[in-house]
Amino acid sequence: MAASDLHFFALVVLAISATGCLGLEHGHDAKHVPLFVFGDSIFDAGNNNYINTFAQANFWPYGETFFKYPTGRFCDGRLIPDFIAEYAKLPLVPPYLQPGNHQFGYGANFASAGAGVLDETLPGLVINLNTQMAYFKDVEKQLMHKLGDEEATRLLSKAVYFFSIGGNDYGSLANYSGSHDKFVEMVIGNMTVVIKVGH
Ligand SMILES: *[C@@H]1O[C@H](CO)[C@@H](O)[C@H](O)[C@H]1NC(C)=O
Ligand SMILES: *[C@@H]1O[C@H](CO)[C@@H](O)[C@H](O)[C@H]1NC(C)=O
Repeated sequence: MAASDLHFFALVVLAISATGCLGLEHGHDAKHVPLFVFGDSIFDAGNNNYINTFAQANFWPYGETFFKYPTGRFCDGRLIPDFIAEYAKLPLVPPYLQPGNHQFGYGANFASAGAGVLDETLPGLVINLNTQMAYFKDVEKQLMHKLGDEEATRLLSKAVYFFSIGGNDYGSLANYSGSHDKFVEMVIGNMTVVIKVGH
């Protein structure tokens, strides 16, 4: 498990640094850098409120220290992506599934509590990573339509893609007939495919 955690941490750092740190451009405040968030309950800002699942944080005292109501975050306050958005001078990044007329020009949050990298992790009860990436592709299409291909491509190539996922997959490790190493390979392999497809 320690080895897999390490792999995973490395992947997250890679995902961030590949897009060029936080991409903050001082003196160019109109040229914001969108933040796209993928993951599980560590990053879910409320997407699971809009799917049929037990994995929801839509009740008090969730949210009590900051939002003053339960937003769907598995937290009494804000999550790491909320702080990063704040430091990057972005508005709070909205959950993709939250109803409303979102432009997603500042990014979107696709994370879903309970989600894993593997489709087999809590199937039907979470938005798995492949689906999160499909939702991102939809946002990409919307931005291309709205801004034109050139501007959208410029924006998306500067965007930060922030992942925290994989922990929930290991819930089914005890059930897996292969070796632990093989399982880790499967999780990291699928993670890699998603990042490449997204790219
Ligand atoms: C383990 O396998 C059994 C039988 O296929 C299944 O019912 C169960 O949900 C699995 N447990 C986990 C944690 O995946
Ligand atoms: C991805 O996961 C599936 C199981 O969901 C597995 O069969 C497949 O080999 C994995 N792919 C990679 C590239 O590791």
